[in-house]
Amino acid sequence: MKQEVIENILKNYETPIYVFDIDKLKQRIRFLRENLTKRLELCYAIKANTFIVGEINDDVERFEVCSPGEYSICEEANITPEKIVISGVYKTPSVIEHMVTTNKEIGRYTVESLEQLNLLDELSKKHNVTLKVLLRLTSGNQFGINEEDIEKIISNKETYMNLNFVGIQYFSGTQKRTNKRLQKEIDYLDEFIEILEQKYNYVAEELEFGTGFPVHYFQGEEFDEIGFLKEFSNGIDNMKYKGKIVIELGRSIAASCGYYLTKVVDKKTNKGQNYAILDGGIHHLVYYGQTMAMKFPHLEIYPSRENANTEDWNLMGSLCTINDIIIKQYPVSNLQIGDVFVFKNTGAYCMTEGISLFLSRELPQVAILKNGKLELVRDTFKTYVLNKSNGIN
Ligand SMILES: Cc1ncc(COP(=O)(O)O)c(C=O)c1O
Repeated sequence: MKQEVIENILKNYETPIYVFDIDKLKQRIRFLRENLTKRLELCYAIKANTFIVGEINDDVERFEVCSPGEYSICEEANITPEKIVISGVYKTPSVIEHMVTTNKEIGRYTVESLEQLNLLDELSKKHNVTLKVLLRLTSGNQFGINEEDIEKIISNKETYMNLNFVGIQYFSGTQKRTNKRLQKEIDYLDEFIEILEQKYNYVAEELEFGTGFPVHYFQGEEFDEIGFLKEFSNGIDNMKYKGKIVIELGRSIAASCGYYLTKVVDKKTNKGQNYAILDGGIHHLVYYGQTMAMKFPHLEIYPSRENANTEDWNLMGSLCTINDIIIKQYPVSNLQIGDVFVFKNTGAYCMTEGISLFLSRELPQVAILKNGKLELVRDTFKTYVLNKSNGIN
């Protein structure tokens, strides 16, 4: 991040703060499109970062939405309903009924259980609407349904008069670092779609595939991402299945646009170890794959410094737990109270996966950076109001 941008943030806002760079986000989406086969469309899994949803309505083909809260966020952000995929292991019946009756344009509903299938079937008949449905194939956990269940549904699909079974959804996990694993999934899906065609004469119009593309968060983790995306694309291009394929991505789209700025508020040396106390902490900052705070994520220090003489500092957050260690033994020259660490790649999941209610510290501000301008999109939020008895009998 440019020094003048950091200065501007620090002049106008308080730390800790998240800043999401929208130009960088759009550039990232363009990068993915340029390096993936043109056959693929993009679905943004909004759980990764809900603050950026309204900024990319025109940049992706779909939005995957997994809860009533996420749906409300999309409504407020004026997301085109046709682009929304209502996914998730629990589809609150009253909320789904509300969607079916008030927003007939919603793009797709996934089916993750026979219960959900019945719910959608009943609602579609009750309100006389046709719903587009993606059947979620399980990868061996609580999500989705078995192959045999999908086969049974497809073989009886005429009985679900108002459900249009447009295709299959599949997601098996995040941070998939090897194409070997992805290729196995591509082959598996290709074969399953072929079985459906051969046995039931069912041609899936579309496959929605959560690929779990990786983000390399730590220094020294070199990654040929262009090569990775090319290899994945070859796998897709070689599929026998020729219908539409949409890849569902969260982390890979959102991570790189995010910065988290946190300030050194105290420093000490205890029993020979240097500790810098920051005003942020692990309740705001989650790096997938971090182990015992030993890996160094990509970060900058402000003011920047050139002095090569460094000391190792343990960067600690301000929660009252010995686990609030952001990084151990990070070399910094001349560390001072007031220095600011700018943690990179914090655009996905950090805001939501941290234990943000612990210790009743405030939620940080969130700003977006767009066309060189900063805009505050969420103010600090006092969490103590959620952590006390409100006297409800
Ligand atoms: C169904 C589904 N699709 C897509 C994603 C996004 O995964 P990622 O952030 O690894 O791209 C998730 C994440 O949990 C998911 O549950």
